[in-house]
Amino acid sequence: MSKQRTLGLIKPDALERGKQGAIIDRILSKGFKIVAMKQIRLTKAQAETFYAEHAARPFFGSLTGYMVSGQIVAMVLEKENAIADWRTLMGATNPEKADAGTIRKDFAVDMEKNSVHGSDSETSAAREVPFFFSALEY
Ligand code: RTP
Ligand code: MG
Repeated sequence: MSKQRTLGLIKPDALERGKQGAIIDRILSKGFKIVAMKQIRLTKAQAETFYAEHAARPFFGSLTGYMVSGQIVAMVLEKENAIADWRTLMGATNPEKADAGTIRKDFAVDMEKNSVHGSDSETSAAREVPFFFSALEY
């Protein structure tokens, strides 16, 4: 399989507790190449656009409020099978259900403050990478 790219985010709860370095370490040790990376703070409008697929969900206001509560780290991750492998390394949305050794199992606070994001399909990655990065940046 050829190399694939996906979007990874380290969410505000992880930066708040100084966990971004440990999370990046895990990403690199699993064989991902970080081809672009930046630390930013989203506006509410940007968070609402990014998570637009969840606009009708009851947790949308809380989710977007949390995502703008502090800075995030955005990354373009590259390896073979990057989209699925990054989701596997992240673990289940609910950290109580996440497998041992996953980032969410070891770092997440709860179902919302779950430390990381990853594109869930090729279609999502194709939208989400350019949402955060211009072609000049990777
Ligand atoms: P993500 O999009 O952030 O990678 O997470 P995911 O695919 O595992 O989960 P998704 O269903 O897309 O939900 C997006 C984010 O919304 C928050 N959430 N809260 N309170 C709740 O029931 C609830 N459900 C989801 C989480 O921050 C989740 O990662
Ligand atoms: Mg999702």
